[in-house]
Amino acid sequence: MPTHLSNILKKSKQLFDSFFESYTKELFSPKTRITDACMYSLSAGGKRIRPIFVINSFFNPEDLLKESDHKKHKSVYLASLAVECIHTYSLIHDDLPAMDNDDTRRGLPTCHIQFDEATAILAGDTLNSLSFYLLSLLDSKDPNTIRDSIQILHQGAGIRGMILGQMEDIEEEKNPSYKDLESKLTSIHEKKTGALIEASFRLGNRLRPDWKEREAVLSSYAKEIGLLFQITDDILDVEGNLQELGKTPGKDAKAGKLTYPGLYGMNTAKKLRDESVEKAITLVSALPSLNNEFFLGLPKYIAERKN
Ligand code: IPE
Ligand code: IPE
Ligand code: MG
Ligand code: MG
Ligand code: MG
Repeated sequence: MPTHLSNILKKSKQLFDSFFESYTKELFSPKTRITDACMYSLSAGGKRIRPIFVINSFFNPEDLLKESDHKKHKSVYLASLAVECIHTYSLIHDDLPAMDNDDTRRGLPTCHIQFDEATAILAGDTLNSLSFYLLSLLDSKDPNTIRDSIQILHQGAGIRGMILGQMEDIEEEKNPSYKDLESKLTSIHEKKTGALIEASFRLGNRLRPDWKEREAVLSSYAKEIGLLFQITDDILDVEGNLQELGKTPGKDAKAGKLTYPGLYGMNTAKKLRDESVEKAITLVSALPSLNNEFFLGLPKYIAERKN
C-alpha cells in the first residue's frame, strides 16, 4: 500500500477510535444489560471503514494529517459514530438465527450467542435509533445540515437501502428465482452494502461548505466502492480464514446465497472486482477536489483487503 494512503487510513482510524472511547463512556452510562450488549458489539474490533469514509469525505488529506483533537470538528466524528452504530446494528441483526445464523463476528461470539436473541434484537434497535439521535447533535452554520444528514442516513440504511437489500438477500436465499440473476445480484449488493457506504461518503461531504459541487461525483464513486466492497466480501467468504476475517468463512455457498463467486466463478468474480477498481478511479479522477491519494488509492486497498 502506498505509504501516504496507509498514513491517512491510520490517522483517520486513530481519530475515530479516540473519539469513540471518550464519547461512548458517557453515552452508554449508566451501565445496563442493553448498554453492555451495545458496547460488546461496537467495541469488538471492526475495521471502522465507514467512519474512515466519513472522515475522509470531510477532510482533505493534508488537513487530516494535521488534525490533533476532536473539538473543532466534532460533527464529523458524531456523523462517523452514527454510521458505525447503524452498521453494527445491521451486523447484529444479520447474524441472528432468522437471518444468516452466524456465531462469530469481529473475532468474538455474535451478540445473540454472548447474550441472547432478545437482547441482540434490542441492542440492534438501540443502535439504530441512536444513530439518528447522534445526527441531531450536528453543529453547522448551515441550518439544513441536520435535516439533510438524517435523510442521507435514512436513504442508506432504510426502506430503499440496506433494509431492502437485506430483505432481497434473504428472499433470494429462501426462494431462489433462477432468473435475471446478474442484475438481481448487483442490485442486492448495491442496496445491502453499497447504500450505507454511499451514505458514509455523503455525510462527511455534507459538512463541507463546497459539498454541492462534489456531491454527484462522490455519490457515483461511493456506489462503486460499495459494490466493490461487497464483491470482495463474497470473495473473502470463499478464500478467507476465520482468524483473519473474524467471522466464519464458507457460509454463503452453504446457505445458497447469491454471490459473485457463486454466480460467475472465482476468476470472473475477480475480473469484475478489478474492473470495479478501475471504474472507481476513473470517476474521482475527473474532479480536482477528489483527485487525491485517499480517493485514488482506496479502491485497490479494498480489493486487496484480507478482512
Ligand atoms: C461486513 O462489513 C458486512 C458487510 C457489509 C460486508 P465490514 O467488513 O466493514 O465489517 P467490520 O465492521 O469490519 O466488522
Ligand atoms: C451483510 O452482508 C450486509 C449487511 C447489511 C450486514 P453479509 O451477510 O455478506 O455480511 P457478512 O459476511 O455476514 O459480514
Ligand atoms: Mg447477510
Ligand atoms: Mg452475514
Ligand atoms: Mg458476507
